[in-house]
Amino acid sequence: MAAVTLLKGRRVVLGVTGSIAVYKSVDLASKLTQAGALVDVVMTEAARQFITPLTFQAVTGRPVYTDLWAADSTGGLPTHIAHVGLGEGADLLLIAPATAHTLAKLAHGLADDLLTVTALAVRCPVLVAPAMDGGMYAHPAVQANLKLLIERGIELIPPEHGRFASGLEGVGRLPETPALMGAVRQVLGQRFGGLAGRRVVVTAGGTQEPLDPVRYITNRSSGKQGYAIAQAAQDAGAHVTLITTAALSSPFGVEVVPVGSADEMLRAVLTYSRGADALVMAAAVADFRAKDVSQHKIKKKDDSDGLTLELVRNPDILAEVARVREADPAAGPRVVVGFAAESQDLLDNAQKKLERKRLDLIVANDISASDAGFAVETNRVVLLSPDSGREELPLMGKSEVAELLVNRLAGLLGG
Ligand code: CTP
Repeated sequence: MAAVTLLKGRRVVLGVTGSIAVYKSVDLASKLTQAGALVDVVMTEAARQFITPLTFQAVTGRPVYTDLWAADSTGGLPTHIAHVGLGEGADLLLIAPATAHTLAKLAHGLADDLLTVTALAVRCPVLVAPAMDGGMYAHPAVQANLKLLIERGIELIPPEHGRFASGLEGVGRLPETPALMGAVRQVLGQRFGGLAGRRVVVTAGGTQEPLDPVRYITNRSSGKQGYAIAQAAQDAGAHVTLITTAALSSPFGVEVVPVGSADEMLRAVLTYSRGADALVMAAAVADFRAKDVSQHKIKKKDDSDGLTLELVRNPDILAEVARVREADPAAGPRVVVGFAAESQDLLDNAQKKLERKRLDLIVANDISASDAGFAVETNRVVLLSPDSGREELPLMGKSEVAELLVNRLAGLLGG
């Protein structure tokens, strides 16, 4: 995983309760720590039936808290007093896995162990990831407790459907680390991100222009840069809509709108960017499409060696957006960012596109370089804007480019 600025130095209290899914919390604690978070694990007695505190201590490099009454190893205070402080300093309390029993205690304010005491003391967001076997999750008592917790502002990471340790099947499995990390990032982003409360639309991938029911014309865009921007905007707390032709794994919490052709993308962009704070057009939109799309599969003809396709111009999505904004500024996105993928005269071409498409910012990249542009993990871009000129950036990971772009976006939106 790329460096996650959002998690650096954040204090995460990870509550671990007694479920076989605790093995996933170890991985989660490790990934949070690797991303720079300071993870304080609080284990219930039942959790310690499955795993020892030493495991968490090893992956977090920090003490693990277990006993409400034990003397604190650092200050000699009873732990429950020390951990009012632990709760107060926390940026997030995440309980994963959360058993039916712990959920019931949280719902009713019971505080008979260190975790439930901490849960009452924290002032930060609380995220719970229930995990339970045998259909317990569907029980009205569990559902009623969850409803109460959600009404009170606690955020839920819903369990997944699958096979339980008991061999039964149903809803109740703790999601895997990427989904848990995604939920953590979403909650922290909404609290600390520069785009908190903003609505951002991102497009990604090369459009697919159909020729017949089985074939289409497309380009080499992988969609990676667009997905990285969607993830970075999500981390910055925005509500993100990703209009995409690519089938990459979507960032947690992002609203994904799959499209194929430029025409479909245009309709989706006009719908979702209406009144949005920003539109980032990272998609590689085909300039041409087939004049006629064959209803049936095009067949080879015995009397001909070739096939002639007639192409017509596709709409320019950014030009359409500019038209909407000009007619009624409230109907368009407030800030529009375009991309210019060029193989020659990078800056000249990008400058012309910035003006012609009436953009607030353009990201220019030289696709002739082997370490930048399509399908690779890195990019070397120049940012051009009408007022602040040029910003040439060194070779960076696509997620770093995305983070930087999102920071500029927050600046343009006054965040
Ligand atoms: N774009 C668009 N609609 C199109 C083509 C491109 O909205 N029909 C957007 C792209 O998403 C990108 C920007 O315009 O943000 C520039 O795309 P690019 O393909 O580099 O430019 P073109 O407009 O196609 O110009 P040219 O053919 O001269 O390169």
